Amino acid sequence: MKRRDFVQYLCPSMAVLTLANACVQADEPVMVLSTSEIQEFERVSTKYNDEGYFQEGNQVFVNLSNPAYSKLGNNLGYVNILDAGVLLLRTDEKTLKAFSNCCPHQGIRGAWDLVNGRFRCDNHGNSYNVNEVNVVSCSSNSVSGGLQRFQVLAYQNYLKITKG
Ligand code: FES
Repeated sequence: MKRRDFVQYLCPSMAVLTLANACVQADEPVMVLSTSEIQEFERVSTKYNDEGYFQEGNQVFVNLSNPAYSKLGNNLGYVNILDAGVLLLRTDEKTLKAFSNCCPHQGIRGAWDLVNGRFRCDNHGNSYNVNEVNVVSCSSNSVSGGLQRFQVLAYQNYLKITKG
């Protein structure tokens, strides 16, 4: 299993209540963060803005306990962190995926709807998959294909998304 395919919630009591049922069962694979990765989460713990995220370079840290992310408690719930350039999508009870929110057609970032498991940009109506099939770049004039996916690491109820 690729690291980015897997978002782990170590314990329900540590997670946002709405995400409590996302706790990983004991017989499932466990991803262990390194000490330096944990320290990085702790280093930014006081830096989250009112919208529950903190951006530093190409990394975006997200505090899932912020009400802005409550939709992620539901399967296929999604949140567009517009200014951070990230679309977050829950694909099953244990997995959150992160994608670029830049439309591969003409680069609009704020017109996304999830329709039949694909993100549709309402600017011109083109839809893009979330399965990394035929990934197409931001503003590349592409009218089909897949959105660029970003790596996600989880620690307690925090995420670190690495863009690019
Ligand atoms: S800018 Fe998104 S479909 Fe055209």
